[in-house]
Amino acid sequence: MEFYEVIRKRSSIRKYQEKPVEEEKLQRILEAARLAPSAANRQPWHFIVVKDPKVKEELKAAYRREWFYTAPVIICACGDPSAAWVRADSVSYLDVDVAIAMEHLILAAAAEGLGTCWIGAFDEQAAKRALCVPDHIKVVAMTPLGYPAEGKRERRRRFLEEIVHYDRW
Ligand SMILES: Cc1cc2nc3c(=O)[nH]c(=O)nc-3n(C[C@H](O)[C@H](O)[C@H](O)COP(=O)(O)O)c2cc1C
Repeated sequence: MEFYEVIRKRSSIRKYQEKPVEEEKLQRILEAARLAPSAANRQPWHFIVVKDPKVKEELKAAYRREWFYTAPVIICACGDPSAAWVRADSVSYLDVDVAIAMEHLILAAAAEGLGTCWIGAFDEQAAKRALCVPDHIKVVAMTPLGYPAEGKRERRRRFLEEIVHYDRW
């Protein structure tokens, strides 16, 4: 699929078919995340691929929406603060790096005809308990992954004139 078509096709999917995700597709999607850029090339990310119904059940303590569990796969993107690059003013690029990798993954999924939905509104401590994430690791985002059972809902975007500044703000 052409790159700009992938960008246009992607949308947040909140209903999935039971059909499993082919392993080759899953590996290509994870590879897309692996190739993402990161500050100082630190690659401070880890991905947990959840398929086991028992683990999914435990994850409900972190995110309760039923639709989320209609997907055959859930991917949890984590970051290791000790691996991330930190700017001179102490700002860590952990979240930025993990978010870029996650977006690579999400666009790759769209290119494969698969749906995803960024999830940020979860209980991080409950997610860490359910997925046995070490204390020092941060859970940044989650997404379901699977074949969509609903179409794209057009969400309004701000116009370029509202958001782009030339030369100065
Ligand atoms: C960082 C981030 C966090 C989000 N968290 C949630 C969430 O917790 N629950 C949810 O249903 N959607 C979540 N979304 C999806 C947004 O609601 C969605 O991307 C936005 O409304 C635009 O719709 P679209 O993705 O279909 O274009 C999140 C998106 C982003 C980028």
